[in-house]
Amino acid sequence: MAEPVDRLFVHCRELVTLCDGEARGPRRGDRMRDLGVVADGAVAVRDGRVVATGTTDRIGRDYRAAEELDLSGFVVLPGFVDCHTHPVFARTRENEFHMRCAGADYMAIAAAGGGILSSMRAVREASFDDLVERTERNLWGFAAHGTTTVECKTGYGLSLADEKKSLEALAAAAAVVPLTVKRTFLGAHEFPPEYRSDREAYVRLLCDEMLPQLAKLADYCDVFAEPGVFDAAQSERILAAARAAGLRLRVHADEIQPMGGAELAVRLGADSADHLGRISDEGIRAMAASDTVGVLLPGTIFFLGKPHYAPARRMIAAGCAVALATDFNPGSCHTQSMTLIQTIACVQMKMTAEEVVTAATINPAFSLQLDGEVGTLHPGKRADLCVLDIPSWRAIGYAFGGNPVAMTIKNGTPILANISERDPDWFARGADLDPSRGPSATH
Ligand code: NIG
Ligand code: FE
Repeated sequence: MAEPVDRLFVHCRELVTLCDGEARGPRRGDRMRDLGVVADGAVAVRDGRVVATGTTDRIGRDYRAAEELDLSGFVVLPGFVDCHTHPVFARTRENEFHMRCAGADYMAIAAAGGGILSSMRAVREASFDDLVERTERNLWGFAAHGTTTVECKTGYGLSLADEKKSLEALAAAAAVVPLTVKRTFLGAHEFPPEYRSDREAYVRLLCDEMLPQLAKLADYCDVFAEPGVFDAAQSERILAAARAAGLRLRVHADEIQPMGGAELAVRLGADSADHLGRISDEGIRAMAASDTVGVLLPGTIFFLGKPHYAPARRMIAAGCAVALATDFNPGSCHTQSMTLIQTIACVQMKMTAEEVVTAATINPAFSLQLDGEVGTLHPGKRADLCVLDIPSWRAIGYAFGGNPVAMTIKNGTPILANISERDPDWFARGADLDPSRGPSATH
């Protein structure tokens, strides 16, 4: 007798389960290639979680459901996990993009009061409601690109009141958009103007007031550890205070100039060291021997027009746990597309098709302590799916410049579709697009 479930997704041209490997991450080296691809695949879902995956033939025999959604023609993967983004901002900075294209340098624009400080002024001026509305739109933008779990940093407030406003705006936006959201306090993103002549005082403000008071609103603390911004000693003090306040750690490390940021992240037991365009050999060795995930952000290097992509091949060969993320922000990388990031990772960092799938799913999930919940389609995990309009999973990376995401499914419920023009009757065949029936965001 077929077992009853809530919903079946059937006839996926290819279903990429990642079930050839362990359910829990991270996956290193050759293990990054263990995808588990099922032709004419199906997923059985109950209570928003995966009950089983397999061929449509087998799942159709073993399970029955009142609702069946036909995904024929589509390639289906676990929803993307974007583990490094900065979506709590009030205004875009296209002016700086064109200044950079005309030859200006990112750090020089920042030193002249543009960059992060220009976003800071906009966040300080914005009303709370405007910041919530903007952040909410940004969260839907991730969903439109197949992302179902996202890490979101603050860092454009840079005062106790404005970082609090940013964290609260993020929580308000996350409560109404059906994505899994992790929150990161990034008060140490830059020195605000009122402390530029007394940097030590801002570090004290972070450690003694902001972190103790704001820790309850966040999951992680991050620091922009970079020469000219937070130096190694300041970064370490802030991260130690964050840990004492009960937060887990992430670090913007070795992005523009080398600073031993990866080694620092490993030594402090951070969950991730991010960027790593200038990681040292010592940093690679330290990361390979640790569970600190190397979060590579090649979209930023591309968008800044710089040459130093992170050495993904050497990191993977050494055994580092490697993930990819967008770094979506108003300055250095303005895309929410994980599939575009995968293209840049293949072309510029020479990652393989299998590796860019693993680096966008289970490895970032591990870096967010969500590998038991998302990142693969093992039974028991959330039924988070990204439905791609591409001919085969090998077209991941290859198909670029458009948005190949036809539909995003969160906890077994379609929350967003980009295909209604192509086939207006598609939803009538069983999809339910009412996001109020979706999950509430988890923190
Ligand atoms: O990750 N490096 C620091 N922070 C962001 C950029 C933020 C901005 O320019 O607004 C990054 O690239
Ligand atoms: Fe960043």
